[in-house]
Amino acid sequence: MTDIERIIQLRDELHRHNHNYYVLNQPVISDRDFDFLLKELQDLEAAHPEAFDPNSPTQRVGSDLNNEFQTVQHQRPMLSLSNTYNREEVKDFYERVSEGLQGAKFRICCELKFDGLSISLHYRNGKLFQAVTRGDGVQGDDVTQNIRTIQSIPLQLAQGADYPSEFEIRGEVLMPWTSFDRLNEQRALAEEPLFANPRNAASGTLKSKDSRVVAKRGLDAYLYYLLGDNIPGDGHYENMEAARRWGFQVSRHTTLTDSLQEIYDYIDYWDKERHNLPVATDGIVLKVNSLSQQRSLGMTAKSPRWAIAYKFQAEQACTTLRDVIFQVGRTGAVTPVAVMDPVQLAGTTVRRATLHNADVIQSLDLHMGDKVLVEKGGEIIPKIVAVAPESLNGERGFPIQFATHCPACGTPLIRIPGEAAHYCPNDASCPPLILGRIEHFISRKAMNIQSLGPETVDEYFRQGLIHDAADLYSLTEEQLLNENASNRKSAQKIIQSIRESVNVTFERVLYAIGIRFVGEIAARTLARNYGSMDALASASLEDIKAINGIGDVIAQSVINFFSEPKNLQLVERLKNAGLQMQISEEQAHAQSDTLKGQSIVISGVFRHHSRDEYKALIEQHGGRNVGSISAKTSFILAGENMGPSKLEKANKLGIRIMNEDEFLEMISTL
Ligand code: IVH
Repeated sequence: MTDIERIIQLRDELHRHNHNYYVLNQPVISDRDFDFLLKELQDLEAAHPEAFDPNSPTQRVGSDLNNEFQTVQHQRPMLSLSNTYNREEVKDFYERVSEGLQGAKFRICCELKFDGLSISLHYRNGKLFQAVTRGDGVQGDDVTQNIRTIQSIPLQLAQGADYPSEFEIRGEVLMPWTSFDRLNEQRALAEEPLFANPRNAASGTLKSKDSRVVAKRGLDAYLYYLLGDNIPGDGHYENMEAARRWGFQVSRHTTLTDSLQEIYDYIDYWDKERHNLPVATDGIVLKVNSLSQQRSLGMTAKSPRWAIAYKFQAEQACTTLRDVIFQVGRTGAVTPVAVMDPVQLAGTTVRRATLHNADVIQSLDLHMGDKVLVEKGGEIIPKIVAVAPESLNGERGFPIQFATHCPACGTPLIRIPGEAAHYCPNDASCPPLILGRIEHFISRKAMNIQSLGPETVDEYFRQGLIHDAADLYSLTEEQLLNENASNRKSAQKIIQSIRESVNVTFERVLYAIGIRFVGEIAARTLARNYGSMDALASASLEDIKAINGIGDVIAQSVINFFSEPKNLQLVERLKNAGLQMQISEEQAHAQSDTLKGQSIVISGVFRHHSRDEYKALIEQHGGRNVGSISAKTSFILAGENMGPSKLEKANKLGIRIMNEDEFLEMISTL
């Protein structure tokens, strides 16, 4: 057998195992054996770039090829459904259909309404060809690369199945509860904002520019609508059964009904049972089963007349408000949180609910001791939606007022006109704000002190070891050793990585000191233009504003920062600690026009410099680093393990691939 034949055989085999595992939940080989076959395929594909196939099972891991989503026109518009909220409205729909079909018999297919985002998949000759988001219904984003990483979506349909050579299938991409919980746990640890619900998480993930991120997030998909010229039969239900045979994940909780009563029964059953599903659902979809009857009923401008959604009521519970506490976050924003008598709601015990901001408290007209209605809708954090009627008439406690002072430091709060949130303005000594700044300082794109995390910083702060970022540089190993001597190793590691951070470039130091509105890019621009902290600190407002890419808000913020003595002191202490306060000789002199007008893509793993450093080098020499390969790309700076999809694209477009040494020689800094 030739390598190419083996590649084809392995792909086939792995597609089958994927289907067994992710769609049928019946794996027939062990994970280890699967990985073994996948590794064999990866190796063979690496040796045979000419056999590249975007639908290979190896492509499920995603690639670092930056997705710039193309807008694609839908072949058939993606309509939405009109909503109903009670039995009456369902009955109206049923009667409208019956009338529209002039009394003919019809069946209604009842399905779960999955709460994710809709996707349209196009298959040609059994291969996934294109995946497009709903967008505005007329055109959407081409997210094929990201969709390929979703394991339950077949890239290649089972051979021998009777699918048409070309068809479209639509469904919902969603994030199962287990993936969602895991993702939010990770984000909580990293102090990143949490996703409010699986739908937001799925949508944020699918729009990610890096399909490797998508591959890791554990998305799933259910398909519910088959379209095309040669689809198997006249029944929607039967067509979906066929799609399941071809390899698609189709819900098994779909039922055909012959009466309104059966529809009600289905709704009642799933209203409760949905809480036991692995994915979020927000209702039921009712569809006339016969496609010819669907056609005769037709569409309105927005939605079909043959289908409707019934939305579940969000679960509510009634309990008593006992307290409102105020929490101050790392940005200084203050959030009110209701503390209530524990109550069971949608399977969990709820004790707290967010009240968002002062406007929400006021519009609810909350009083202490009120009986309140708590709801858990699509969001994981419950909210108070109303005061229970019984509380409105009787005697009530005192009205809830928003805090006037910061709960952490006692400073009077401010509210910026036009903004909903109250803020603590005490930048200098409010603990959460200080911690927020130190965490920014050590973060990856700033000083990149990886051995320190938010918790450690928190602890050092509580122990009084650090009060600001500059204090990090006077920490000693002895200070970090508590009673537990086994900590010596980690203490050494922490001290070492703090010391190493003094080599971080000036532009990142400028970003790290946390001047409001000065992000990575503005910091780089300012660093390049002024060359040193001193020069920037003494620049005038007009001068800063005149720089290309620096707007009024940033310029004013820089001026404000350097007009505060405490900031000047911090900068001075950081300078004494040895941090880079000016661009390096190398950077200052290396600037040239060698790469002027060139668009360069970086791919792979490098030996001499990091990716970020190469990016900086390209810019210093007048070039532009771009994310994706196109006909306009000048060349690719390639390290080890360049992604096969990039390689394929580069070869196709005849774009030069340059290795590290060639590149460095070209700009002569080796
Ligand atoms: S059928 C023309 N079936 O709900 C009919 N949609 O509110 C197209 N959805 O945009 C949709 N589960 O994203 C259909 N079983 C299901 C569904 C479903 C969830 C979503 C879909 C659609 C939205 C309409």
